[in-house]
Amino acid sequence: MAAHRLWHGRDLLDYSDATVEDVEALLKLSVLLKEAQKSGFPHALLKGQTLGMIFEKASTRTRMSFEVGMLQLGGHALFLSSSATQIGRGEPLSDTAQVMSRYVDALMVRTFAHTDLELLANSASVPVINGLTNEHHPCQVLADILTLLEYKGTLKGLTVAFVGDGNNMAHSWLQLAPKFGINIRVAAPPGYLPDNDIVEFAKKDAVSQRAQILVTTDAVRAVKGADVVYTDVWTSMGDEEEAEFRQHIFANYQVNEELVSHAHPDYLFMHCLPAHRGEEVTAGVIDGEHSVIFDEAENRLHVQKAVLAATMSKTQVFGEESE
Ligand code: CP
Ligand code: NVA
Repeated sequence: MAAHRLWHGRDLLDYSDATVEDVEALLKLSVLLKEAQKSGFPHALLKGQTLGMIFEKASTRTRMSFEVGMLQLGGHALFLSSSATQIGRGEPLSDTAQVMSRYVDALMVRTFAHTDLELLANSASVPVINGLTNEHHPCQVLADILTLLEYKGTLKGLTVAFVGDGNNMAHSWLQLAPKFGINIRVAAPPGYLPDNDIVEFAKKDAVSQRAQILVTTDAVRAVKGADVVYTDVWTSMGDEEEAEFRQHIFANYQVNEELVSHAHPDYLFMHCLPAHRGEEVTAGVIDGEHSVIFDEAENRLHVQKAVLAATMSKTQVFGEESE
């Protein structure tokens, strides 16, 4: 079914209430919009519409891809840092959401607690898109899945090994991968494993798609035969006070030449970026022939344009008229 029919007016906060059809429709639209952009085919689907982008944390990719994406769709994006708005001075999120909904057609939010995002979304009358919270990063994993599809041609039966902090990226992978029948393994040190409720939720999806979920403290076990080795920073935004301590805790979870020697010979190395060479990954791996990091970064633009068009467009979306 067309992405617009499934997503119009909806929020994208995480994938807990999304079906595989919902996500497939976004991927299909992402491919159409990527082709349109590459070939110069006009796709100004959001003429005159505005996206408000609230950032409570730093960003390179998310800010640029949403802003450029809105421009390519014929609309406009407003960058709103929390420090330069009244959010930083304590205006309630519920008031902020209601006020902003009177000016813009959708909101993209990067913040700390996922519950704050949910609060904001409950008060907003326009679609709200998660640009990263402490718990989830749904746009990144969607771009990663598109990249995986482009390289492997299929998703079902692939095995993704996430090595490092059981953080927002690990959670988003756990939420989305099993819906497509992707086996997902997460290896993290004790105390840094992904949240149990997210793992249990993933296991339910995994049963219906015959996917396997493994959560372990053993990095080699996770990587053995994997089609994808994925990692992320050891210290996420908001965890900076623990940075030094984390260097020790995560030392045995570095994605290096020895660890990837256990992966499938045609494995892909993925990372959401920004990366720290010499910490979570060696330069040899991230800059090596298996790495697809810049394709993932580019695909942020295409999948987010699909999310924007599907949630915001007032009419059926380009390329989907006949459905
Ligand atoms: N991957 C990602 O979200 O990057 P930024 O923090 O630069 O937006
Ligand atoms: N886990 C990282 C992802 C950055 C895109 C963080 O939250 O800082």
